[in-house]
Amino acid sequence: MTTLSDRLKTAIRDVPDFPKPGIVFKDITPVLHDPVLFADVTAALAAPWKGKGITHVLAIESRGFLFGAPVAQHLGASLVPVRKPGKLPSAHLTEHYALEYGEDAVEVHTDAIDARSLVLIVDDVLATGGTAAATRRLAHRLGAGVAGIGVVMDLSFLPWRKALAGVHVETLVSF
Ligand code: PRP
Ligand code: MG
Repeated sequence: MTTLSDRLKTAIRDVPDFPKPGIVFKDITPVLHDPVLFADVTAALAAPWKGKGITHVLAIESRGFLFGAPVAQHLGASLVPVRKPGKLPSAHLTEHYALEYGEDAVEVHTDAIDARSLVLIVDDVLATGGTAAATRRLAHRLGAGVAGIGVVMDLSFLPWRKALAGVHVETLVSF
């Protein structure tokens, strides 16, 4: 029997030297091109969290939007976009995180979640874990509980486990 993990390993393609020389990029666009696989992936992302009282899915711009929106619908939860700086029109909080060179940030509307919320964070991939950890800090600053993080894939040779120590992480395929 072919597992979902095997199907993802077949579909996700390696792109050498992107975005810069020496990096092998894992391209998830073939997953989106296959409607049956895409549907199976979003159902599997939602499955571990059914019945856990998730009120909000925090989907991280931009690739996390693609998976977070259908997961929110599967869970009957609200969808909250976590955006890159300067995109959110209303009052928002900002959390910075380190990149290999420099830093980036994520933002969330302050009225999106509160102390009654139990959130699931959704993204496409965990690498350093910096983006997901910053998103978790945003949720905590607004008093929300964080049930965990769901991603399509993780890069096990990068230090996301350390950045997210003690956090419930569900991943569909590891590289
Ligand atoms: C990528 C990816 C994750 C994040 C993972 O997003 O989609 O969000 O990096 O890396 P980390 O675990 O080291 O934080 P990116 O910021 O490149 O933007 P995109 O989703 O808009 O392509
Ligand atoms: Mg991203």
